[in-house]
Amino acid sequence: MTSPASPRFDGPRPRLLLSAFVMNTTSHIMGGQWRRPEAQQHRFNELQLWTDLARQLEEAKFDTIFFADVVGLYGDYDGGWASHLRKGLQVPSNDPLILLSALAAATREIGLAATSSVIQSHPFQFARQMSTLDHISNGRVGWNIVTSVLENSHRNFNSTELTKHDERYDWADEYVEAAYKLWEGSWADDALVRDKEGGVHADPEKVSKIYHSGPRYSIDGPHLVAPSPQRTPVLFQAGSSGRGQQFCAANAEATFTLAPSTAIAAAYTAAVREQAVAAGRRAEDVKFLQGMHFVVGGTEAEAARKAAELEDSLDIEALLAHVGGGFGVDLGGLPLDTPLGDIQTEGSQGHLEAIRASTRGGNPTLRDIALYRSRANRVVGTPEQIADRLEEWQDAGIDGINIINQTIPGSYTDFITGVLPELRDRGLAQTDYAPGTLREKLFGDGPRLNGRHPAAAFRGAFTAFSAAAENTPAAVGV
Ligand SMILES: Cc1cc2nc3c(=O)[nH]c(=O)nc-3n(C[C@H](O)[C@H](O)[C@H](O)COP(=O)(O)O)c2cc1C
Repeated sequence: MTSPASPRFDGPRPRLLLSAFVMNTTSHIMGGQWRRPEAQQHRFNELQLWTDLARQLEEAKFDTIFFADVVGLYGDYDGGWASHLRKGLQVPSNDPLILLSALAAATREIGLAATSSVIQSHPFQFARQMSTLDHISNGRVGWNIVTSVLENSHRNFNSTELTKHDERYDWADEYVEAAYKLWEGSWADDALVRDKEGGVHADPEKVSKIYHSGPRYSIDGPHLVAPSPQRTPVLFQAGSSGRGQQFCAANAEATFTLAPSTAIAAAYTAAVREQAVAAGRRAEDVKFLQGMHFVVGGTEAEAARKAAELEDSLDIEALLAHVGGGFGVDLGGLPLDTPLGDIQTEGSQGHLEAIRASTRGGNPTLRDIALYRSRANRVVGTPEQIADRLEEWQDAGIDGINIINQTIPGSYTDFITGVLPELRDRGLAQTDYAPGTLREKLFGDGPRLNGRHPAAAFRGAFTAFSAAAENTPAAVGV
């Protein structure tokens, strides 16, 4: 069956981008599902779990495998953090960047994306790690820029409290600026000459210090890594508050959304695209990847039965601990019909808004919150029904999906064997990879950030500080 036309596009619908949403831990989002007999996510310490999954996704031509990450515990549940350990709520968890390095060697085409928070690593160190990963993966790296909503994360990195919401985004503004300078402005493309006969390895005129100086960071440079295929990794982002949207519109090439409905997705994608255009970019410069999960059946009845069975094995307390912990509110020990009330959060504001918006009266109970976690963004049905729903999401402004799992690898196997053939029949999923880097595969353009992105302004901006020129900012009056 071919898809009906979409009001969004003049010609046929473009394909949907496909991302797998995982974390190097046992219990990422769907609390309790790790206990299911077929679930393998409890083997998260084994490299083979991830190399097998990455290869399976690559075989199915997924665009990216995306590893979420946190650098601290969720806020307390039931007065402490014992429950997080008992239920494996994102603890223990391993560093995804190290894992990506192994996956780069085990795969050839799939994009390798991971979260790294601005609070966890100095931008000089982080820029060097990402450039190295981009080299060894032949340009397949993506970075999900986050600012960390968990107080414990901030307390793990020198702070005595959770840095305030908007201040975190100011921090991120400086962080990305410093990284852009290193990635885009420090080395000319032809600086690394490796001329054995002439005895010149790199041209001193073409490598520059960057002399970044800001409220949080002071970095002389130069970048220690020569230009990698993409230079700047593909830039992802996920915050959806007002300040988050502003950051996204200015910086992100793709954003992970968890919109509770197509109507909200339509308003949200339009608002962010408008802000991107106001920032000098194009509407299509930002791709929207909606977090979703699927329960597939040969018939509607079979799908409904499977959905009920999956819901039965969820752990409501783990779901509540996850959501409340992200808001910094202890939702433990309360009856499930307790209303959330008028809480404010310095944590995940976009998420709180989404839960309120999806509840009649805007005042969800704890049961609503748990159900929201398990039911929002879930599509239950036959492959045809799921494909129909995905077309509706595409009409609402979504460019692709970020597939949440109940079980690894089962949720991906079900999608690949159940839904993917139908999407391919409709021209909604690719059957092979486009050549080139992750950025080329996603945008069909060059390997580097386009000239409309703010990072492009740093190209060639520091030649006064090249090794040949030997200037300092003071000497050239900046
Ligand atoms: C799909 C999705 C994935 C996310 N992944 C991470 C992550 O890996 N690590 C993290 O600390 N925060 C993650 N977040 C949280 C966001 O980065 C952001 O902090 C949060 O949405 C609150 O931002 P806001 O107040 O601007 O909405 C994710 C959010 C979404 C919607």
